[in-house]
Amino acid sequence: MKKISAALLGATGAVGQRYINMLDRHPYISLDVLMGGESAGKKYGEAVHWLFPDALPDRFAQAKVLKARPESAQGCDVVFSALPSEVAGEIELGFARAGYTLVSEASSHRMDPEVPLMIPEVNPDHLKLLETQKKKKGWKGAIATTPNCTVTGLAIVLKPLLDSFAAEKAIVTTMQALSGAGYPGVPSLAITENVLPYIKNEEEKVAREAKKILGTLKAGVVHENPIPMGLSCNRVQVIDGHTETLYAEFPGRVDPQEVARVLAGFRGKPQRLRLNTAPERPIIVRTENDRPQPRLDRMAGSVPGMSVTVGRLRNGIDDRSLQLTLLSHNTIRGAAGTAILTAELMEKEGFIG
Ligand SMILES: NC(=O)c1ccc[n+]([C@@H]2O[C@H](COP(=O)([O-])OP(=O)(O)OC[C@H]3O[C@@H](n4cnc5c(N)ncnc54)[C@H](OP(=O)(O)O)[C@@H]3O)[C@@H](O)[C@H]2O)c1
Repeated sequence: MKKISAALLGATGAVGQRYINMLDRHPYISLDVLMGGESAGKKYGEAVHWLFPDALPDRFAQAKVLKARPESAQGCDVVFSALPSEVAGEIELGFARAGYTLVSEASSHRMDPEVPLMIPEVNPDHLKLLETQKKKKGWKGAIATTPNCTVTGLAIVLKPLLDSFAAEKAIVTTMQALSGAGYPGVPSLAITENVLPYIKNEEEKVAREAKKILGTLKAGVVHENPIPMGLSCNRVQVIDGHTETLYAEFPGRVDPQEVARVLAGFRGKPQRLRLNTAPERPIIVRTENDRPQPRLDRMAGSVPGMSVTVGRLRNGIDDRSLQLTLLSHNTIRGAAGTAILTAELMEKEGFIG
């Protein structure tokens, strides 16, 4: 297979490090350029506060971090962006105008009507928005985005609940990990022995993004899924892995065992195409009363961290409602993993390389 040369914006951050971890042994995406802000000009190994137990591979430790500008990525086929949203908007635009294809984790362009917001198992057809984007924006390159880490696991579970059971309402409470706030993130004195019941802008963002991802693309326009959603987002003292409880309502009776079968059988285009970062089972259903748990289940699946684990499936206040708990790894499935999977799908469909 033809090699894809990749560059990474925000290489030293919590998500940037996850890219390095995941792309180190990728069979055909080669991470060749690392870019940063304050770390530009330094060796990566000196600039980064490495967060993983496995050693930082030497070729990255020795690599020089370059300035976040298009000239730095010369010759690269794709640019991954793990920049903070406050700076990502303009920097990413500069790359797109200069002819680069970007896959971005940042929220800056996610809700732009001409920018696809991708979870490859859920809305692979939305990649076609890149054709509309090309016509309307006049950029030489392109921008595709991936969602907020809290949305990803939720949207993967809502997709079969909508398609097979016509879910018509979703109430969600989240227990979000510390790494979701980046490094160094939440002050230890605020979170130790504590739960923070508010994450700025998160509740609005999750509902808005889920409706776009679950929406229908017709004639170059994404029509949002109308499902009403209520969110309560909390930060908890867990390092990795967002846990969410979902209460959903349906037009008719739902049998939890039938729902469990449908969720466990859910497969998407990445599975059919056998993409490298696609887990065999996007959703793993556990039947024990005390699962999923972040420590036990966040690395679940044939591609560790890429499967969403669902448990505690039961009817809610009546047999037309359902309750469950889901867990997904926020920097893998919720960030770098979904972006890499998106790039693999883009390569397959001729948008990269
Ligand atoms: N953490 C998650 O679970 C998660 C999940 C999904 C999406 N996201 C999104 O992913 C992005 C990165 O998140 P994170 O948690 O990795 O953040 P982070 O730990 O704060 O890292 C931010 C990175 O951006 C770089 N940067 C900052 N300002 C810059 C500038 N002006 N020019 C160039 N580089 C600059 C930093 O590099 P220097 O050290 O060189 O300044 C650092 O590498 C955010 O948009 C976030 O919303 C995060």
